[in-house]
Amino acid sequence: MAAFLALGTVRAMSGYLDHVELLTGDASQDVLDAMRAQKDRIEQGLRERGAVLLRGYGATDPNTAAESLNVLGGGLLDDAFWSTPRSGVTGKTFTATEYPKARTIALHSEMAYMSGWPRFLAFHSIDVADQGGETSIANLDQVSAALGPILDEFATKGVTYRRTYRAGIDIPWQKAFQTEDPKEVESIAAKNGMRATWLPDSVLQTAHDAQGAVKAEDGRWLWFNQAHVFHVSNVPAQHRKMLSDMFGADQLPRDATYGDGSTIPDDVVKTVHKVLTEHTLPVQWQPGDVLIIDNMRYMHGRLPFEGTRKLHVAMSTGHSEPVRTPAFG
Ligand SMILES: [Fe+2]
Repeated sequence: MAAFLALGTVRAMSGYLDHVELLTGDASQDVLDAMRAQKDRIEQGLRERGAVLLRGYGATDPNTAAESLNVLGGGLLDDAFWSTPRSGVTGKTFTATEYPKARTIALHSEMAYMSGWPRFLAFHSIDVADQGGETSIANLDQVSAALGPILDEFATKGVTYRRTYRAGIDIPWQKAFQTEDPKEVESIAAKNGMRATWLPDSVLQTAHDAQGAVKAEDGRWLWFNQAHVFHVSNVPAQHRKMLSDMFGADQLPRDATYGDGSTIPDDVVKTVHKVLTEHTLPVQWQPGDVLIIDNMRYMHGRLPFEGTRKLHVAMSTGHSEPVRTPAFG
C-alpha cells in the first residue's frame, strides 16, 4: 500500500490531459482509420506538444501499437538491446516491461543508454489495472531545466554503462542479445561499440559509452541517458552490499559511471530521481487507448499496480544524431 500512498508526491492525476494532444472517437470507429484521416493533426501534435492520445476507439487488435506507428511512417524498430524483461507479441509490437507489479519503473528515455534510439513510441492499453499502473510521462525540457548543473556535468562527461550477465541474476545475455551464440554476442557488441569480456562460467561483462545529454533544437542540453536507472544506488542497500561482497564492486549486474570512469555520487542520482518524481504526469489508461510520444520530448515509466495490466508498445524511426530535430520537420 505504501507504494500507492507515495503517489501523493506526483502531480494531479488528470494533469496529463493538459499536456497531450487528445483525439477522441467512439468504438464504432477504427483507430487506424481515424489516424489516417487525421494524420496531419497527429504529426502536428507530436511536433508541437510531443504526445498524442487517441481515446474512445476501444482498439483491441494486439498489433495496434505497431500499426499506429506504421501510419506515421519511418519504419519500426526491434528492441535490439533489451535491458528489461519483455516479450514479443506479434510483428514489432512488444509487451511493456514486465517488472513486478509493486515496483515503480523510473522515468527514462527509451534506449538512451545507446547512441541510437527510437524517435517515437506507441503504447496501446489492452487491460487496465484495478489500481495504479499508470504510464508515467515527464516533459524532457522541463526535467532538463530543473536538473541545472547536474545536467551540465553529464553533458560534458557522458556515461559509461557496465553490465555483468550472470545466470539467475537480472536478464540473461541470451535474452539481451537475442542469441545463444557467444561469438554472435561479440560481433553484435563490437558493431554497437560495446566492450565485451567473458569471465569464468560463461559470465559476460559489457561496457559501453554513450551520451549524457543531447541538444535541443536551440542548443539547450536535454537529459538523455539512463544513468539514474543503471546506477547501483537503485539496488536496496542490503542487496547492494551482498552483491558487492559476492561479486566485487566491478562485477555488479548493472552500474553506471561518468564517461571518464569517475563515480556518479549516490546523492546526484537521488536528486535526479527527486526531480523526475516532481515532474511525473501519470497517464490514467482507459481500455483501447493509444498514446504516441516523441522519445526526445517525453520520458516514460510506470507506476505500481494491482490486478491485471496489459500494455503493448512499439517503437519507430531510429534517431542517432545527438541533436533533437523537429518531428516531421
Ligand atoms: Fe521504456
